[in-house]
Amino acid sequence: MNKDEFGKSFKWGVSTAAFQIEGSCSAEGKGPSIWDTFSSRKGKILHGQHAQVACDFYNRYDQDLDLVKALHIDNFRFSFAWSRILPEGKGTVNQKGLDFYNRLIDSCLERGINPWPTLYHWDLPQALEDLGGWTNRDIVGWFSDYTDLCARSFGDRIDHWMVMNEPMVFTGAGYFLGVHAPGKTGLKNFFPAVHHAVLSMAAGARILKSANPEAEVGTTFSCSHIEPYSQKSWNVSAAKRADVLFNRLMIEPVLGMGYPDEELGILKGIRKYMQPGDEEKMAFDFDFIGIQTYTREIVRYSLLTPYLHAKLVKAENRRVPLTTMKWEVYPEGIYSIIKKFSGYKQIKKIYITENGAAFPDELRDGKVDDQERLSFIQTSLQQLLNAKDEGCPVDGYFVWTLTDNFEWAEGYHPRFGLIHVDFNTQKRTIKSSGKWYGEFLK
Ligand code: GCO
Repeated sequence: MNKDEFGKSFKWGVSTAAFQIEGSCSAEGKGPSIWDTFSSRKGKILHGQHAQVACDFYNRYDQDLDLVKALHIDNFRFSFAWSRILPEGKGTVNQKGLDFYNRLIDSCLERGINPWPTLYHWDLPQALEDLGGWTNRDIVGWFSDYTDLCARSFGDRIDHWMVMNEPMVFTGAGYFLGVHAPGKTGLKNFFPAVHHAVLSMAAGARILKSANPEAEVGTTFSCSHIEPYSQKSWNVSAAKRADVLFNRLMIEPVLGMGYPDEELGILKGIRKYMQPGDEEKMAFDFDFIGIQTYTREIVRYSLLTPYLHAKLVKAENRRVPLTTMKWEVYPEGIYSIIKKFSGYKQIKKIYITENGAAFPDELRDGKVDDQERLSFIQTSLQQLLNAKDEGCPVDGYFVWTLTDNFEWAEGYHPRFGLIHVDFNTQKRTIKSSGKWYGEFLK
């Protein structure tokens, strides 16, 4: 396998997210986000960890971009922290926040690295959560104003935008299960959050596109290849329901297909939050769709799981190799997912905007020899190439992630980086996987 086989236009990158790397959570006028609040609550983050320093990217972005450059990575995905730019989520602008992202973008460009910002990677301003957050329909307007401000402030230097990161995860984990910020639970929070996230995704995209029709506008979705536990009809239909919830719920309305609620009746509850005209407002003709995939899920029928009547068979109980996240090591899944999404005729282009794996990396004699990650990435790329050779419109691949960082409720324990971080000293060490990726891209 060599880089040329992927074609000249193929985008090679690495992905990050503001809250996971920046630290400086209250520096220079930044307002609190729901993740600042959530991380300060007892028992929410493993070992009581928080992201007040994280990778100190706010102060070290220049050195980290030098590493991106040294690894020959041309495209850098990051996100804007909404409450750094608008401390209250709306109203007064924090010039220092704009300055930071201007410096970051300019530092990318000075090094010949293309900046790929995501507008929303889960860190909602706390002031907006106090008004109901994603459950309040007004958020479509707040998000639109924030998007417009970003388009005007940075748009002259941005060729690729992503509106949102994995809406299914922040609504599901944050507004239904309560295991992510803001820690809300139940369908009464989940359904309105889903609908307002979908409306905001399309509204934000329309603003970015009209600000600069030349820029590529995309948005990203989490998805996993799903297989039934056995070919018994009840397991097969359980797997289909899980697929509706995890892989289809967020993307189909955006593609103009409406919510897939005929196949999972409980989702009809979303209709209560819909207003006349919403069907059209939910749809947008995205230039690309970002697919983020890490593992595969095995699903079986479950009488006791309310609404869904399906459950994931934990990878720990399946005698398969595991990552630190206890996800099955299954890089082959990327092939099936690319094939699946290529089946939607509305999707013009796919970029894999996140793919990677966490392993218990150790620094020994100044080196981190992460052979498992290296082989995970290589296998994923080979699978991606197979799908591409079969005609799938996939034209980019971004590793999650540049440096080890704050993995949400899991704290610092899972290490996903191409670069190891010693969180006591902030020392960076390029892992074997990073060295390989750099050589490959050279
Ligand atoms: C997500 C986010 C990332 C995660 C990564 C590993 O996909 O959950 O985009 O922020 O860190 O996926 O879990």
